[in-house]
Amino acid sequence: MSSKINAAITAVGGYVPDTILDNATLERMVDTSDEWITSRTGIKERRILGDGKATSDMAAYAIQNLLENTGINPDEIEVVILATSTPDHNLAPTAPLAASKAGLKNAWGFDFNAACSGFLYALSVAASFIESGRHKKVLLVGADKMSAIVNYEDRNTCVLFGDGAGVVLLEPSTDNAAVLDTVYKSDGNGVQFLSVPAGGSAEGTSIETINGKRHSVIQDGRTVFKNAINGMTSTSKELLAKLNLTTNDIDWVVPHQANLRIIDSVGENLGVAKEKVKVNIQRYGNTTAATLPLCLWDFNNDFKPGDKLLLTAFGAGFTWGSTCIVWGELRNKK
Ligand code: UT7
Repeated sequence: MSSKINAAITAVGGYVPDTILDNATLERMVDTSDEWITSRTGIKERRILGDGKATSDMAAYAIQNLLENTGINPDEIEVVILATSTPDHNLAPTAPLAASKAGLKNAWGFDFNAACSGFLYALSVAASFIESGRHKKVLLVGADKMSAIVNYEDRNTCVLFGDGAGVVLLEPSTDNAAVLDTVYKSDGNGVQFLSVPAGGSAEGTSIETINGKRHSVIQDGRTVFKNAINGMTSTSKELLAKLNLTTNDIDWVVPHQANLRIIDSVGENLGVAKEKVKVNIQRYGNTTAATLPLCLWDFNNDFKPGDKLLLTAFGAGFTWGSTCIVWGELRNKK
């Protein structure tokens, strides 16, 4: 008789570039204002990686940060899953490169693309590797160099995004920690409202796509905004019902950081007190797959073993969902 193995997050790490792009600088680049950006999005500044470095570098720095904090031997890491929408290359996955740059000799790895929901979706996959008994140490990274795919002449999008990477280690749980359950959804019709249209197999690269700025993020903000609030609210409610929990049982909500007004609306819809909803969008903007692990990294000192965290995200695809986890004792404290 084998007893059920639960997956626990046992360590967190992160990396954000040093270079800050603040609202005052954006005011000089496009027709915008600090007042508009702050009141409409909650963002004050974001980090920019700059030329010569790629998503794999940020992922590797985040992994090294986790390994240094915990003292874990890099050779013990078995798998690296990298959630990203900004791989170093179209062909050749970024995870193996990140693993090599981080000095992991025994890990296999692969990329996972579900846009802003990438980390959330992949948490289920990473947890399954642990729960099945197949692996004992899995790193899950969320990393995006959004500055590589943002058009800094488009005020509708360039104020929103930033660069960063966060990582968690999953291991078999030795306390009550667990990835309890998930509700995930997707709707491919959403692609018309948020995507990088060109550069993939649907629309290759040509003079027209370059001149038309079709290699950068294009978004119908209002449609995405409404769907994000509805999607994150409904999957969170569905998940709580599935787990027989109420909002009162949730100690912390960790939402995708795309817009403070979206975060506030989801919190209000769920009836969660503001103090329980984690927000760091003012410092990093929307880092796509990195928002959730960067929140876990930033706020891990607030989480106590046994706390229930509700993670929720919405992104391109559309992709969205909610996951409930029980926090455990960490190997490291930031
Ligand atoms: O991670 C998942 C993906 N992304 C999201 O979840 C983002 C979802 N959407 C949003 O966060 C919001 O829709 C935005 C922040 C993108 C836009 O906010 P909004 O309140 O929905 O504004 P809007 O798009 O309805 O635009 C209102 C006005 C427009 O002017 P007009 O047409 O009313 O004259 C825009 O041109 O604001 C204008 N505007 C700006 N003004 C100053 C748009 N961007 C800017 C800007 N600065 N940066």
